[in-house]
Amino acid sequence: MDRVNGFSKLSKDEKIDWLELQLKKFGTSSVVDVKKFWHKDENLQKIFDDFSENTISNFYFPYGLAPNFKINEKIYTVPLVIEESSVVAAASKSAKFWLSRGGFQARILSTTKKGQVHFSWKGPKEKLFNFFSVIKSELLFSVKDIVANMESRGGGIQDVQLIDKTDKLEHYYQIDVKFETCDAMGANFINSVLESFGENLKRLALSHEAFLDSEKEIEVIMCILSNYTPECLVNVVLECPIEELGEFSGKMSPLEFAQKFERAVKIAKVDVNRAVTHNKGIFNGIDALILATGNDFRAIEACGHAYAAKDGQYRGLSSCSLKNGRFRFEMTLPLALGTVGGLTKLHPLAKVSLDILGRPSARELMMIVASVGLAQNFGALRSLITTGIQKGHMKMHLLNILNQLDATEQQVEFAKDYFQDKTVSFSSVRELIEKDQPFQ
Ligand code: MEV
Repeated sequence: MDRVNGFSKLSKDEKIDWLELQLKKFGTSSVVDVKKFWHKDENLQKIFDDFSENTISNFYFPYGLAPNFKINEKIYTVPLVIEESSVVAAASKSAKFWLSRGGFQARILSTTKKGQVHFSWKGPKEKLFNFFSVIKSELLFSVKDIVANMESRGGGIQDVQLIDKTDKLEHYYQIDVKFETCDAMGANFINSVLESFGENLKRLALSHEAFLDSEKEIEVIMCILSNYTPECLVNVVLECPIEELGEFSGKMSPLEFAQKFERAVKIAKVDVNRAVTHNKGIFNGIDALILATGNDFRAIEACGHAYAAKDGQYRGLSSCSLKNGRFRFEMTLPLALGTVGGLTKLHPLAKVSLDILGRPSARELMMIVASVGLAQNFGALRSLITTGIQKGHMKMHLLNILNQLDATEQQVEFAKDYFQDKTVSFSSVRELIEKDQPFQ
């Protein structure tokens, strides 16, 4: 592609014209098709355009529903945005299985979020700590206007600490701040408070007597929330008598199934190769619901993976135990979510998703998201230790292949039947379609 100046100043049509020219130079004969995916409602399209910069179209993902999630005695239908076939089917299947076995028992362990002012100070430590103890209340006073609204909703600043990090990096200190942000994800609120702390820290240091005899200045490096939220935790449990696993145990006895399942979970606790894939399966469900509700899946993923490695080794997030004839499968993970503000309010489908979920609070959404993650993990492990995942996967994949091959409805039905007991591959499906029998 050619270099371009002032690209952001071009109109949407001009950007597409530029792209078209570039593609022609590459020898791509097809006209850029992106306009096909513009929304016919111009106002709505404007909303999507304004989410980001240099937008030229929309990228569609499937929006599906997984019904029958019983969480703390309430039944939810869960909206999921995901392109990977079989995720919604697996979530629905697990949810249905647990519906008659007590469902998901979820609880919030804590909802604290954090952020830091990262700064350098080359002077004596004691001086800094004395100074901080004197100015702490002034710092808090300086943000009273920013926190007023959050406090009226029951949230605000929970704690402010000066942390010595000089054993990790020379001259490095933090002001570590804990927040409660109620139903908001709270990123803007937290960052505003931290930036104000950063400015006031420098200002107060300049004029404070403790610093007058020192040539050293506080250098604020950055003020930013942390997406690592190990104190914003939810726990979810699935539990039933082992013999009730029979329906899902394939050719194994329920006990054999339970033992193999427990073993599979333990493998993910000790082997990083397996742990990453195990957790990826959990995030198949989590991300899909995070996206559907307009939350930030990058933040949730980054945090979840850091939490999975909290003791120095990356481990599977879920745990399984078999005791007194009972199967118990559970997971505790950090989820910093919002149900008000940000994209949850702006994206029309995020609003729909929250309506489908019954307009949950952030705490309730944490419990739903964790349940979907555990359901997904249960479904994946069940397949892995019984039939293998390819069977179910390929059934869904078959439909994608048939779509790509423009199969007729009759061909789709025939192929579904034909591949019941055969391995699906792109070439085997194409061969069947090309033979075109018995389609005529
Ligand atoms: C595929 O997207 C997810 C799985 O690989 C998860 C797992 O292996 O647990 C099936």
